[in-house]
Amino acid sequence: IRVMAGDVKSAWASVWGCVCVCVGRPVEWCCSCMDVLMPNAINALNGTTVKIPCTFTSCYKMDATKFAMNWTYQESVNDTEDMFMTYFRKKGMVLRSDRFGDRVSFVGILEKNDLSITLSDVQKEDEGFYKCYVRNPPDRIQGLGVIELKVVTELPPPRDSTIAVAIGASVGGALALLILSMVVVKCLRRHQKQELISEEKMEEEGKLEAEGVAEEGTK
Ligand SMILES: *[C@@H]1O[C@H](CO)[C@@H](O)[C@H](O)[C@H]1NC(C)=O
Ligand SMILES: *[C@@H]1O[C@H](CO)[C@@H](O)[C@H](O)[C@H]1NC(C)=O
Ligand SMILES: *[C@@H]1O[C@H](CO)[C@@H](O)[C@H](O)[C@H]1NC(C)=O
Repeated sequence: IRVMAGDVKSAWASVWGCVCVCVGRPVEWCCSCMDVLMPNAINALNGTTVKIPCTFTSCYKMDATKFAMNWTYQESVNDTEDMFMTYFRKKGMVLRSDRFGDRVSFVGILEKNDLSITLSDVQKEDEGFYKCYVRNPPDRIQGLGVIELKVVTELPPPRDSTIAVAIGASVGGALALLILSMVVVKCLRRHQKQELISEEKMEEEGKLEAEGVAEEGTK
């Protein structure tokens, strides 16, 4: 670090701010606390509005005259990136692509290192990788965060109802077995008594009871 007269104070400040990240890092990483924070993946329900979060950390306070960032969209790993939003010193965040039309908007707060956006009326075609590039001089490293957006058409059913269905099915099954065994026992008893029942009648009765069993089972 070159220290010039009158610059000593700020130089020491940045030294203390950076010592931690210099350890075990390549030289060009030295004096960078740049890190872009975002989840790896996010699920959105078709037709809803989803927030695509991006925040960053830096050794240095964000300086609007030097700061730079952009958002890109990449459909899949081998596709080219489409830069759809960029920060300009004078104009702020500007839309640069009509891919998303007016469905995309910036909802971050620059002073809080928040660069989040929202995407409304999410469509299946919006699936892919959203990248958040950040440069915050004098931090040397360009930060990059990637998030994968997946669009679902239905929310997975809540666990409770699955358990309820499972319990219902097993209770129903047990009930069906019970009725079936009762029918069998009844039939056996009749046979033991050597009652004279025509085969036709037996069959009819059996059918009816079987239907009853089937009905119980579907409940
Ligand atoms: C997504 O939602 C829109 C309406 O919100 C609907 O018209 C469309 O069919 C849905 N797509 C799928 C794949 O369900
Ligand atoms: C903007 O995005 C491109 C990738 O398309 C990247 O190479 C570039 O460095 C980014 N610029 C800034 C200032 O983040
Ligand atoms: C991307 O390209 C590489 C090499 O060109 C290939 O091996 C890989 O399968 C491709 N991946 C996808 C998801 O298409």
